[in-house]
Amino acid sequence: MKRGYKESSSQSTSLGQPQSRFKHNPEGDAGFLDDESTKIFARKVADHYSARTNQTLEEREASPIIHLKKLNNWIKSVLIQLYARPGDAVLDLACGKGGDLIKWDKAKIGYYVGIDIADGSIEDCRTRYNGDADHHQRRKKFSFPACLMCGDCFEARLDKVLAEDAPFDICSCQFAMHYSWSTEARARRALANVSALLRPGGTFIGTMPDANVIIKKLRQAEGLAFGNSVYWIRFDEEFSEKKFKSSNPFGIKYKFHLEDAVDCPEWIVPFHVFKSLAEEYDLDLIFVKNSHDFVHEYMKKPEYIELMRRLGALGDGNLDQSTLTPDEWEVAYLYLSFVLKKRGQKGQPDRMQPNTRRDMGKMQISKEDIVYINGKL
Ligand SMILES: C[S@@+](CC[C@H](N)C(=O)[O-])C[C@H]1O[C@@H](n2cnc3c(N)ncnc32)[C@H](O)[C@@H]1O
Repeated sequence: MKRGYKESSSQSTSLGQPQSRFKHNPEGDAGFLDDESTKIFARKVADHYSARTNQTLEEREASPIIHLKKLNNWIKSVLIQLYARPGDAVLDLACGKGGDLIKWDKAKIGYYVGIDIADGSIEDCRTRYNGDADHHQRRKKFSFPACLMCGDCFEARLDKVLAEDAPFDICSCQFAMHYSWSTEARARRALANVSALLRPGGTFIGTMPDANVIIKKLRQAEGLAFGNSVYWIRFDEEFSEKKFKSSNPFGIKYKFHLEDAVDCPEWIVPFHVFKSLAEEYDLDLIFVKNSHDFVHEYMKKPEYIELMRRLGALGDGNLDQSTLTPDEWEVAYLYLSFVLKKRGQKGQPDRMQPNTRRDMGKMQISKEDIVYINGKL
C-alpha cells in the first residue's frame, strides 16, 4: 500500500504570512489555489515530465543539446560545491529524475529529501538512488539516506508534511521555480515552504529562466514567437502589445519547447518581484547571475575549469573537440542562477544531529516508501 500524506482541508496561508504587495486576487489565496485552470496547467507540466523516460547513455550523448545539458550540470555542480557542507540536510524541490544525486554525494551531505510532482520522474529518481538504473549509474551506492515524495511543491504545505525532517541546511530548486509563478498564491506557497523548512542562516540555491532576457527577445521578435534550431518560445495573443503590468507580475504564461528536454507551459518570473517576495519570507538575495556571466566568472577558477573539462560541456581540451553550439549557448543565456539566505543565525538547538537524520531516510527505497502528498493522483 502506498503511504500517503493527506493535508488538512484548511487552505490557511498562515506560514507567518506577510502582507500582499500585489493585490490582484479578489478571491484571496484559497480561491487561487483551488483554481481549476491552475491545476490543469500544473497537471500538464507533471504529465510532460512524467512521460519523459530515462535515456540510455548512447541516447543521451546523441542529444542535440548534450553540451547544454553538461553545461547546466556544471552550473548546478558549482552551486552545490559553493554552498553544501558535509553532513548537510538537503531539500531538493522539483528534484526530477535525481540528476543531482551524484553532485550531492560528492558534497558528502548527510540527508536528502527529493520531491517532484511527476510520479514517473520520482520513480526514475528512486531507481537511480538505489543503483538500479544500470545505464545511468556511474556508481553503485549513495552515502546518504534519502526520502522521496511525489506532490506539488508549490501547492502543498510542506512545512506540515516535513515537520519532522526540518530544518534543512540547504534547499535547492533547479530549473523549476518558474512553474510556481502561475499565480501569486503558488509563488507565495513556494517561498513560504522554503522559508519554513530552512534553518536560520540556511541557503536556497536555484536556477530558472531569466525574465529580462526572455522579454528582451520577445520585444526584438517580429511576432510573439522566437527561437533557434533547438528551442522556441511562444506567447499568446493576450500579450500582443508585449507590455506587462507591474501590478500583475504572475501568470505571464508562454509555451517553451527545448529539443529533447522541455515542451510545456512556463511562466515569467520578474526577478525584482521574486527578490522582494522572497524578502517577505525572510529570504535575502546573496547573488543572481545570468548563466553567461556565471560561466565567465567561475571559469576563472582552476577547480571549476577542471570540473568543466571532466563534464565535457566544452570538450575535454584534448581529443574531444566537441563543444556547445552557438544555438545551445543562446539557450544558456535564457537562464539565471540565484542564491538566497534565510535570515537569522544558525542556532545550536535547531540543528539535528546527523545520526538522528540518518534514521529518517532510507539507504534503499522501495516503491512503498515513496510518500504521496495528498495521495496518488
Ligand atoms: C527541468 S526539470 C528539472 C529537474 C531537476 N531539478 C534537475 O535539475 O535535473 C523541472 C522539474 O520540475 C518539476 N515540477 C514542475 N512543477 C512542479 C511542482 N509544482 N511541484 C513539484 N515539481 C514540479 C517537473 O516535474 C520536473 O521534474
